[in-house]
Amino acid sequence: MRRIDSETVQKILDTAEILDVVSDFVSLKRRGANYIGLCPFHNERTPSFSVSPSKGICKCFSCGKGGSPVGFLMELEQMSYSDALRYLAKKYNIEIKEREMDAEERERESERESLLAVNEFAMKHFEHNLTATDEGRSVGLAYFRERGINDAMIKRFHLGYSPDSRDDLFRHAKAKGFSEKFLIATGLCYKTERGTVGDRFRGRVIYPVFSLSGKVLAFGGRTLRKDKDVAKYVNSPESVIYRKSFELYGLYQAKQSIVRNDKCILVEGYMDVISMHQSGVENVVASSGTSLTEGQIRLIHRFTENVTVIYDSDPAGIKASLRGIDLLLAEGLNIKVMLLPEGEDPDSFAQSHTSEEVERYLADNEQDFISFKTSILMKDASNDPIAKAHAIQSIVRSISVIPDPITRTVYIAECARSMAIDEKILTLQVAKYAAEAAEKRAREEQRERNRAKAGLPADPAQDAVAIPAEAVTPAPEPAAPKPVIAAEAGFLVPYERELVRYIVRYGLCYLCDVADERGDTRPMNVLEYVMEELRIDEISFSDPVFARLLDECLALAGDSWTQACEGERLRLSEVRRRRMEEGYEHIRRTAGDLASIQTREKELEEAAENEFNAALDSFAELYLQRQLLSCSSDEVRRTATALVTSRHSLSKIYTKYSHVSTERERLPELVPLAVYNLKCALIECEIARINKEIARIYSTAPSDSATLRSLMQRNLELNALKKEFAKYLGERILSPHRP
Ligand code: CTP
Ligand code: MN
Repeated sequence: MRRIDSETVQKILDTAEILDVVSDFVSLKRRGANYIGLCPFHNERTPSFSVSPSKGICKCFSCGKGGSPVGFLMELEQMSYSDALRYLAKKYNIEIKEREMDAEERERESERESLLAVNEFAMKHFEHNLTATDEGRSVGLAYFRERGINDAMIKRFHLGYSPDSRDDLFRHAKAKGFSEKFLIATGLCYKTERGTVGDRFRGRVIYPVFSLSGKVLAFGGRTLRKDKDVAKYVNSPESVIYRKSFELYGLYQAKQSIVRNDKCILVEGYMDVISMHQSGVENVVASSGTSLTEGQIRLIHRFTENVTVIYDSDPAGIKASLRGIDLLLAEGLNIKVMLLPEGEDPDSFAQSHTSEEVERYLADNEQDFISFKTSILMKDASNDPIAKAHAIQSIVRSISVIPDPITRTVYIAECARSMAIDEKILTLQVAKYAAEAAEKRAREEQRERNRAKAGLPADPAQDAVAIPAEAVTPAPEPAAPKPVIAAEAGFLVPYERELVRYIVRYGLCYLCDVADERGDTRPMNVLEYVMEELRIDEISFSDPVFARLLDECLALAGDSWTQACEGERLRLSEVRRRRMEEGYEHIRRTAGDLASIQTREKELEEAAENEFNAALDSFAELYLQRQLLSCSSDEVRRTATALVTSRHSLSKIYTKYSHVSTERERLPELVPLAVYNLKCALIECEIARINKEIARIYSTAPSDSATLRSLMQRNLELNALKKEFAKYLGERILSPHRP
């Protein structure tokens, strides 16, 4: 696939109307300036899904989902960015121009495409074998029938059969012109020692593995023989298109249901997924026998925060997989587990129960992971103090990886109760593990940096558990004074968020006039003002996502904005011109005397001018957020959406009857306030650090009075600075104009 060229992207984004796009999925009713309907992202009876044509965004006030046209489609239909653009292009009949790729890109793309094409062919061939050949029907299809799989599922999961022949696929593919090179690169075929080429999956039923967008990436083949000396499953090897640790079996078929239910059910095998689907539970994916990787977990997290892991009640299996769950917890997911009745796996359970029974069982038997783990480990250890200590350690370890401090605290309290251990001891232990993990991570990062410096490639075994920095309850004492920002990152985030929100929401809006050296004044917008303030004190955001968002805003505010603004100005002048012409015409036809014509013409001109200015103004107000909400980076788009639709910005009231000032009107007061709040927070951090340092030196080297004095001096200076700031800020709020 070629890249959509950026002009076309812009055209699509400019053309797409949120009302149009949403209307294809939701039936909407007008309510004032907005439209409302039933939210497509969750089940509800009273509408809380609101579409704002003027802002170009939609949002559910109940579940919070929504966004720009592109964001809405990606979320609802689980499309990729480029698929959403293509969808919109088709809807609006926009011709897609694709950018030429350079030679290297072309080669890589063409290899990918060739591999995907081979796989697509093979999948169709296997499907054909299953239903349209004698061997396929009597062996493969008979097997699926015996396992209770119906035709709908065979179609949906594109199940197939590869006959027990040396090179059936190879011959057919060659005949169709597919090259040996790609058949081997996909792993469908392999070269024997004698130099001939054979099929990998012979005599097996086939489960294709799909990408998120429905491309066939790989295959699993299950043998139908009962003897123990053949591998039960053969799977495609890794290739340019298949990285096993980044795919999940069934996700393509499950993604919409995962979003709708806001939950992903995790099972082990191909058959578990398919049988669950058949019984009506569609939000199911499989890790395919291996333990979950971080890549797979991220993949799940794109669709939901809630994961339910289904276990069959085999105790050894459960214990083996408990550890893997820590990865899920560390990613910040809410984990539930479910035990199936003795002797059942998801496949057998789904096959032997009605859909209603399966659903009821799922609803009734979920347990919280931590309490599940506690009960399993403690049951085993009931009479053995050493085993009990191990169990507690293992549980504490799980709690320590949870990123959210409140959740951690709740679990600690709960576990203290259920294991009858002092809560304070658990808290300390959790903090200790978290600190150890953070240290380990820091060492790994250092190693990574050293490696990068030495020009070595990244360590592929770097899939280690990443503990969010914030999980460290007591920050490990820095050996040498570190820059404030790094040490206290979490503390600054709310202040940074507030500032970034003003930028995303109002970045290009007028804020105040500034005087230059020659005394000329010029208007300054919110973005310019904030940038100037950050520059003066050499501040950069500690949060990488906010930093990225700010960069994005700066890029957008350059040429792209100038051009867009010019274009809009032309368009609006044209609107104004037409409106005036019609107005003059109307006045001439209806007015009596010359004097009244003159007054009415004057009124008309004023009205048109006001409208023009208001429209241009609102274009400027919405420009940044529109662009950001349609940005191709998931991270930028999500963060921007969250900022724009936060309770804050939507709760402002403005009616023409009672004048409640809007946030926009209060920008000259609010933006400087946000800037100074951030600066004060930075000073607070520095003061805290110095106090800690003073305490440390008191306890370790109390005779080092020179250092102590200089630290205390610095402390005093900072406190004075803080007071200065407060005063300065007081002045700033009164006057929107710079001194
Ligand atoms: N698996 C694999 N290779 C193996 C064994 C297992 O890739 N040699 C993966 C497959 O994805 C399989 C999953 O691990 O679906 C679970 O394995 P298992 O429980 O042995 O198989 P089932 O899926 O239950 O297969 P069946 O019910 O058909 O026996
Ligand atoms: Mn099974």
